[in-house]
Amino acid sequence: MAVQERTQVGIIGAGPAGLLLARLLKLHDIDSVIVEARTRDYVEARVRAGVLEQGTVGLLEEAGVAERLHRDGLVHDGVEIAGNGRRLRIDFRELTGKTVTVYGQTEVTRDLIAARLAGDGPIVWEAADVKIHDIESDRPRLGYRVAGVERELVCDFIAGCDGFHGVSRPSLPTSLGQTFERTYLFGWLGILADVPPCSDELIYASHPRGFALASMRSPTRSRYYIQCALDEKIEDWPDERLWDELKLRLGSDTAPDVTTGPAIEKSIAPLRSFVSTPMQHGRLFLAGDAAHIVPPTGAKGLNLAASDVHYLCRALAAHYATGNDDLLRAYSVTALARVWKAERFSWWMTMLLHRLHPEASFEAQMQRAELDYLASSRAAQTVLAENYVGLPF
Ligand code: APR
Ligand code: PHB
Repeated sequence: MAVQERTQVGIIGAGPAGLLLARLLKLHDIDSVIVEARTRDYVEARVRAGVLEQGTVGLLEEAGVAERLHRDGLVHDGVEIAGNGRRLRIDFRELTGKTVTVYGQTEVTRDLIAARLAGDGPIVWEAADVKIHDIESDRPRLGYRVAGVERELVCDFIAGCDGFHGVSRPSLPTSLGQTFERTYLFGWLGILADVPPCSDELIYASHPRGFALASMRSPTRSRYYIQCALDEKIEDWPDERLWDELKLRLGSDTAPDVTTGPAIEKSIAPLRSFVSTPMQHGRLFLAGDAAHIVPPTGAKGLNLAASDVHYLCRALAAHYATGNDDLLRAYSVTALARVWKAERFSWWMTMLLHRLHPEASFEAQMQRAELDYLASSRAAQTVLAENYVGLPF
C-alpha cells in the first residue's frame, strides 16, 4: 500500500520551470510538492545556456531569487552579428529600451533550489517510476517510488515540468493533440573554459565554414560553440583544433582577442524545433521543455519556460483566490501564442546564421543578402532586437 500525501499542485521536475513555478505559487500561498527523478548534485551540475530576457529577470526578482543574479549577472545592451566580413552591433537599449542579462541557467537553478529548501516546501529527489493518474478527475494523483517505498501524491493540479524526455507529455491523450517538429542536420559543439571572453557582448558569427558563437558566464569564464555535423565525436575535437576553428569562424578582427585554455566541459548537442499542443488536458498542465524545444540560436529555452510558468501561476492563483477558471482554461492558447513567436525567431536565427547550403547556391546568397539587409536597416535590427530581449508576456 503506497504512502499517501496531499498537496495543491504536484510538480514533476526540478528544472527551472518546476522550481520557478513552485516559488511563484508559494508567493500566492499555494502549496506544492516537487518530484524529481535525479539527485540534487546532478540537477545542479547540468551545463546549460545563460541569456535571460528582461521579463525573465523581472520574474526572478518577483520570486525573490535575484540577489546573486544582480551581483554576478552581466547586463548586455546589445549583441554582435558577424558575417560577410563585418561585425554588426545590434543596440538593444537604443532600439527597444531593454537589455538582456548573461547569467548561467545552472546558477538560476541553484538559486531556486536554495530558496525552495529554505522553507518553501519539499523536493523529492531520486523519485523513480513517476506515474500520472486521473488527470480528468479533480483529484489527479502522482505515483512514484523513493528508496524502494511506493508513494502517492494526491493533488488538485499536476504541472508537467519534466522536460522533453519526461512522462507528462506522453500522458496527454495523443488523439487530442498535434506535434510540430523540425530537426536540423547539424549540432553545436560547445566548450566551457576558464578564460576571459573575447568580447564584452555575445558574437553570433556566420561563416562559410559554419556558425560560431562567442558567449560567456563571467569575466573569467567563456562559453563558445561551433556548428558541427551530427556524426562528429568529441574525441575528434581536441582543444587546440577547436580553438583554431573558432578563431577562423569568428574572423580576423576577433581572433586576436580569443584567449585559449583547457576545456572544463565540452559537448555536442543536436538542434531541434518542437512544439506539442495542447499544453493542458484536464488537470495536467505542461510547462517548459515538456511542451516545446527551441534551437539555442535565439537563447529562448529558459525564457520560454519562465513565461509558461508566469501564465500557469497566474491562472492557478486566480483559481484559488476567486474560483474563476477562465485563465486556466485559456492557459494552453495563451502560452502557445508566445511559444510560436519564439519558435519562429529561433528558427529564423538558425536559418540565417548556419551553413546550410553550398557557397555558390541561391540559398547561400539569400543568407548573405539577409545579413546585408540587417546591416542596412534599422527596422530589421529592431525586429531582431525586440525578439531577442523578449516579447511582452
Ligand atoms: N520524473 C521526475 N522528474 C523527471 C522525469 C520523470 N519521469 N523526467 C525528467 N525529469 C526531470 C529532469 O531530471 C529535469 O531535472 O525534469 C527536469 C526537467 O528540467 P529541464 O529539462 O531543465 O526542463 P525545464 O525546467 O522545462 O527547463 C527548460 O532547460 O533544457 C533547458 O534549454 C532548456 O533552457 C531550457 C530549460
Ligand atoms: C550560452 O551562453 O550558452 C548561450 C548563449 C546564447 C545562445 C545560446 C547559448 O543563443
